[in-house]
Amino acid sequence: MREKLEALLTAAAAELAQVGSEESLQELRVKYLGKKGELTSVMKGLGSLTPEERPLVGQIVNKVKGELESKIEAASLQIRERLKAEKLRSERLDVTLPGRRQPVGTRHPISIITEEISGIFAGLGFQVAEGPEIEHDFYNFEALNFPKDHPARDMQDTFFISDTLLLRTHTSPVQVRTMLKQPPPVRIIAPGTVYRCDSDATHSPMFHQIEGLMVDKGITFGDLKGILTNFINQLFGSGTGVRLRPSFFPFTEPSAEVDIACVICKGKGCRVCKNTGWLEILGAGMVDPEVYRHVNYDAELYTGFAFGMGIERIAMLKYGISDMRLLFENDLRFLKQF
Ligand code: PHE
Repeated sequence: MREKLEALLTAAAAELAQVGSEESLQELRVKYLGKKGELTSVMKGLGSLTPEERPLVGQIVNKVKGELESKIEAASLQIRERLKAEKLRSERLDVTLPGRRQPVGTRHPISIITEEISGIFAGLGFQVAEGPEIEHDFYNFEALNFPKDHPARDMQDTFFISDTLLLRTHTSPVQVRTMLKQPPPVRIIAPGTVYRCDSDATHSPMFHQIEGLMVDKGITFGDLKGILTNFINQLFGSGTGVRLRPSFFPFTEPSAEVDIACVICKGKGCRVCKNTGWLEILGAGMVDPEVYRHVNYDAELYTGFAFGMGIERIAMLKYGISDMRLLFENDLRFLKQF
C-alpha cells in the first residue's frame, strides 16, 4: 500500500509539472483528491488492513494528501502569477507617448474685423448699440426718409415678411431706435447682420454692417471727415489716402461716399480698384433734419453725422479675399488662416 501511495505521489507530481492552466489544475485536483479520486479510493482500502497497520498507513495517507494539496496550491499560485505578469505585459502603457491634442478653434474674420473696428471707435468715445434683425418698415425706411415709392423698398432688394415687417436691409434703423431712446448727445456704433436679395462673388443675401452716429451741438462735416480719417488710418495704416465723393442717401444731407487709396496697388491702379486707384469703403453724411423730426430732436439745436460700412468688404480688402462666399462656406482650411 505504501508503494502504491508513493507511486501515486510521483505520478501526480509528473502530471502537475505539465499543468498550464487553472482549469487543468482543477481537473487534476478532482482526479486525485476528489470524492471518486485516486487517493480516496486508496483510503477506501484502509478497511482491509489490520488494526495495527491502520494508524501507520493512515498517517502516510494523510502526509501524501497534505503534500499533494500543497503542491497543487503552489502550482495554482504559479499559474496566477504568470497570468498576472502576462496581463501586465499586454496592457502596458507608454506614458511617454505625446497626448492627443484637442483642436483649438479660431475667430472668424468677420468677428475679428468687427471687434477691431468697434475697438477703434471705443477709443474715440463711441458706445455699441444694437437693434433687431426683423425690423419694422418704420425704422428701416419711414423714419429714415425713404419716400413710399423709393426703389430700395422694392421687392428686388428687401426681404419682406409682411406689409410692415422685413429683414433689415441696413443697420441704419439702429440710429432711429437709439435717438428715440435717448436725448443728445449721441455717440454710438451699431454692428449687425443685414439682408438684401442679392447674391454673387461680391454680394451675399446676408452680410454685416457697422453703423455710426454722432449727434451733439455744433457737429460739422469737418468732424465727420476728421473722425473717419482717423478711423481709416488706424484700420488700414497711418497715411492711407482718404477721398470723399458727393453721394445721396435719403437720411443724410449732404451725403458722401468715402474711398481709400487702393490697399493692393497703393493708388497706382490694379484689377481690385478697377484701375481707379481708389476703393469705396463706406457711406456717410450729415443727419437729415427730416430724420430728427421723426425722433423728436430739435434740428435747430443739434447736428450730427452718420456713416455705414460693409464688414465683409473691409475684411476682403484687409485680407486680400477675392470671393465673399469664402466668408460663409465655413471651410476650416480657409478659416484657420486668420
Ligand atoms: N445705410 C447705408 C447703406 O446701407 C449706409 C449709410 C449709413 C449711409 C449711414 C449714410 C449714413 O448703404
